[in-house]
Amino acid sequence: MTLPKTHLRVAAIGDLHASRHSQGAFQPLFAQISANADVLLLCGDFTDYGLPDEARILARELTAAITVPVLGVLGNHEYEAGKPHEIREILADAGVTLLDGEATELHGVGFAGVKGFAGGFGRGALGPWGEHIIKQFVQEAVDEALKLETALARLRTRQRVAVLHYSPIQATVEGEPVEIFPYLGSSRLEEPINRYRVTAVFHGHAHRGRPEGRTSAGVPVYNVAMPLLTRVNPDRPPYLIVELPLTADAPPPASQPPTGTLAEPIVRTA
Ligand SMILES: [Fe+2]
Ligand SMILES: [Fe+2]
Repeated sequence: MTLPKTHLRVAAIGDLHASRHSQGAFQPLFAQISANADVLLLCGDFTDYGLPDEARILARELTAAITVPVLGVLGNHEYEAGKPHEIREILADAGVTLLDGEATELHGVGFAGVKGFAGGFGRGALGPWGEHIIKQFVQEAVDEALKLETALARLRTRQRVAVLHYSPIQATVEGEPVEIFPYLGSSRLEEPINRYRVTAVFHGHAHRGRPEGRTSAGVPVYNVAMPLLTRVNPDRPPYLIVELPLTADAPPPASQPPTGTLAEPIVRTA
C-alpha cells in the first residue's frame, strides 16, 4: 500500500554558471537531488557567459542525471552574449520548464517564476524620475513585478512558490558590498509576493549574500546561489531542500489573493 504523500520536497539551487569545462561537474549533484527531492528549481545563471555551448553542456549534465521535474528562470548571465532565446530553447529541449511570467502546478503546489530585475530596496529603490533611460530602467523592474503578479494570480493552489533570479528583499543580499545592493534585486518584486501570500521564495544572483530572510509580510525568502550555499555549508552538497506540507484543503477562488494561515515550510539543507 502506498501512503499518501504529506510533503513536497522542493530542491533549489541557482548560479551554476556552467562553463565550457563543466562536463561531468554537475551529474553527481543532479543524481543526488533526484534521489532526495520531488522537484528541482534552478534560479538562473545557468551559464557563465550566456553562450549556447555552455547551455548545451549543462543540458547534457541534466539529461544524464536528473529524474525529477525541473523548473527554472533565466538569470542575467543568460543575456550576456545576446542569445537568451537560444539558451532557453536548449534548456527546454533538455526538459527544463522555464518560467517567464508563467505559472505551473506540480502535485497540487503552484510555481510562478520571473527573472526579476535590479533597482534597489525600500527607501533606496530607484524611482521613475528624470531622464528617459532611468524611467526605462525602473519600468523593467515594474514589468517583472507585474509578470510575477499575473503568474501568481493564475494559480489556484493553496501553496504558491515564487522562483526568481534577483532578490525581492534586502536581507538575503546583505553580506555583499553595500554599494551594489541596488544591482542585486528590487523590492518591487516583494509586493505581489506579500499580496498573494506566497509560501516560499527562492532566488540566486547574490553570491555573497545571506541564505535566508523574510519579506515584510513574513514570507520566507531563500537565496540559493550555489557559491553562497557552498560557503555556508562547505561539508554539504550546495542545494537547499524545503519540504512543503501538502494540504487537502479546497483551493482558494481564482484570481483572488488567498487568506488564512500559511503552513510553514520545513527547511533542511541537503
Ligand atoms: Fe550568478
Ligand atoms: Fe546573476
